Amino acid sequence: MGFPTQRPRRLRQTPALRALVAQTRLHPAELVLPVFVREGATEAQPIGSMPGVVQHSLDSLVAVAHEAVTAGLGGLMVFGVPVTRDATGSGADDPEGILNVALRRVRDAVGDDLVVMADLCLDEFTDHGHCGVLDSQGQVDNDATLVRYAAMALAQAAAGAHVVGLSGMMDGQVGYVRSALDRADLTDTIILAYAAKYASGFYGPFRDAVESTLQGDRSTYQQDPANATESLREVELDLDQGADIVMVKPALPYLDILTQVAQLSPVPVAAYQVSGEYAQIEAAAAHGWIDRDRVMMESLTSIRRAGAQIILTYHALEAARLLRP
Ligand code: PBG
Repeated sequence: MGFPTQRPRRLRQTPALRALVAQTRLHPAELVLPVFVREGATEAQPIGSMPGVVQHSLDSLVAVAHEAVTAGLGGLMVFGVPVTRDATGSGADDPEGILNVALRRVRDAVGDDLVVMADLCLDEFTDHGHCGVLDSQGQVDNDATLVRYAAMALAQAAAGAHVVGLSGMMDGQVGYVRSALDRADLTDTIILAYAAKYASGFYGPFRDAVESTLQGDRSTYQQDPANATESLREVELDLDQGADIVMVKPALPYLDILTQVAQLSPVPVAAYQVSGEYAQIEAAAAHGWIDRDRVMMESLTSIRRAGAQIILTYHALEAARLLRP
């Protein structure tokens, strides 16, 4: 007769059928919104390369934290933008530094209704813009940086962070920070390790968001986009050192890495859809070249399908709105 015996299209006939057989679903509770807070700002300021994203004032940050609770988001990842910076990033562990002040305000506002996460890295606080302190040759000094990260972790935990997000890619950072937290009896503070973080051009708009002063790049500490196996080593090292959650970053260009990490990780796996991924969608949509909402949801679904259980995305609130039944 020549009729096909297998007809995969049968299961695609109606929205209800497609929903019935969908293997991947998004939920607001697994989305984390990254937010920027600028020292001294009296109102939210737009970020040119990230339309729709702002540098918050303390008050507008608290307002968005309440919105995040209402939207059912999983958490906020807070980044500070200080007014003054120095060689050692002393604003990072100063209890009166903008990030720590902001964490206190957010935690006071939301309590345990939202997971409060803090970016743990020096780049926003150093005058040279690197993620660590420099040695006499101007190179990033791995082990001296660990001491600074430990101080930062204690300050962030004291300010109310449930989770510290170690994004600096220094060797041994997870173990060093874990033991500093434990020695201070902060055994409940969770470590989210940016385990596989690539030296990526997709961080471009983020540099605007935090007014980065960086000259050059981060290729001596972040990973080479050409490598995959190295990510598995980085993840295993972070797991050995006590990471509670491991992350892959960026997300969409690194879905292969995400899948491999998800296969080996016994702890939850997160992915960070970074500023450049966000900006691409917004820019193309602004030209009318793509359907923004559709591409936003397709990207997030792909990241989820590849193996991320948690997704950091600047679209978290918009996505949660679309997911509302
Ligand atoms: C480092 C940090 C960066 C991002 C998150 N944490 C910048 C970098 O590594 O250069 C980038 C996030 C994004 O692009 O959205 N503190």
